[in-house]
Amino acid sequence: MTDKIAIIGFGNIANAIITPLLDKKYIQPENVFCVVNSKESLENIKKNYKYKINVYKSGSIESKIIWDCQYKLLSIKPQQFNEITEAHYIKNKDNLIVSILAGVSINRLTKKFPNHKCVRVVTNIPITIGQGLTGIAWGEGITKNQKQFTKKLFENTSRIYEFSEDYLDIFLALTSSGPAIISLIIEALSDGGLSGGLPKTLSEELVLEMIIGTTSLIKENKLSTSELKNLVTSPGGTTIAALRVLEKKSVRSALIESIISACNRSKEFR
Ligand SMILES: NC(=O)c1ccc[n+]([C@@H]2O[C@H](COP(=O)([O-])OP(=O)(O)OC[C@H]3O[C@@H](n4cnc5c(N)ncnc54)[C@H](OP(=O)(O)O)[C@@H]3O)[C@@H](O)[C@H]2O)c1
Repeated sequence: MTDKIAIIGFGNIANAIITPLLDKKYIQPENVFCVVNSKESLENIKKNYKYKINVYKSGSIESKIIWDCQYKLLSIKPQQFNEITEAHYIKNKDNLIVSILAGVSINRLTKKFPNHKCVRVVTNIPITIGQGLTGIAWGEGITKNQKQFTKKLFENTSRIYEFSEDYLDIFLALTSSGPAIISLIIEALSDGGLSGGLPKTLSEELVLEMIIGTTSLIKENKLSTSELKNLVTSPGGTTIAALRVLEKKSVRSALIESIISACNRSKEFR
């Protein structure tokens, strides 16, 4: 990837996408042009980021250079979307915007960036350790090279799924909100261990290892979730006592509704 790339918003997720590409030398620091909002972030990147990339403050005259880059990663928060305005001059043809903004549709992107082809991407926080899940929906007229470039951005750190845009909201709910839901479950189960007398850190460690072991077992032995459940649930035993409480409290229904609610919220951003 010898092309210049602009990064509009260099926060947690942009960092997780770009740093491994720099580590692997797929892109060169001098070809990265990023823009951030605050002086603090600007200074922080200049001082502490491990690569000498080009970084500018939003609104500055120098930051206009980003519009010269054919490829752009849009990685601000959805709430900051209205603050970005496409420069009125664009030198290049075949400009591409790859947006990772939750919920912001290809239609909105295309209206905002009329000189660009637009791609909408949903990725999730495990991308920061190279174990992300990335859903991609292509806008109209994306070239083969632009597709290749986009995939290259994410394939290093995540598993890629290509979808029609209709699936992205539910994909986001499951994979991008999912880590918070799982964290809440881990926290609650550890509190259960704590209530039973275990030290907090040990309780949390046991829950984490139990979840990793369980998911690995399901995956490696190709078990269905009900097969696994039946394996460990004996008549009149402890596990059925636990499951009975979860059913009584409608935990299954609460989890289903939590995903639908995240999906609906994502649709509201459109
Ligand atoms: N967090 C997640 O779990 C997750 C997962 C998948 C996708 N996403 C998506 O990824 C996007 C970024 O999330 P994040 O967690 O990386 O956010 P973040 O850490 O808050 O980063 C946002 C970046 O945008 C910059 N910015 C704000 N306003 C700007 C402006 N007007 N012009 C240029 N830059 C501006 C910020 O600069 P300052 O630091 O100077 O304010 C910061 O560098 C979001 O749209 C989110 O939907 C997030």
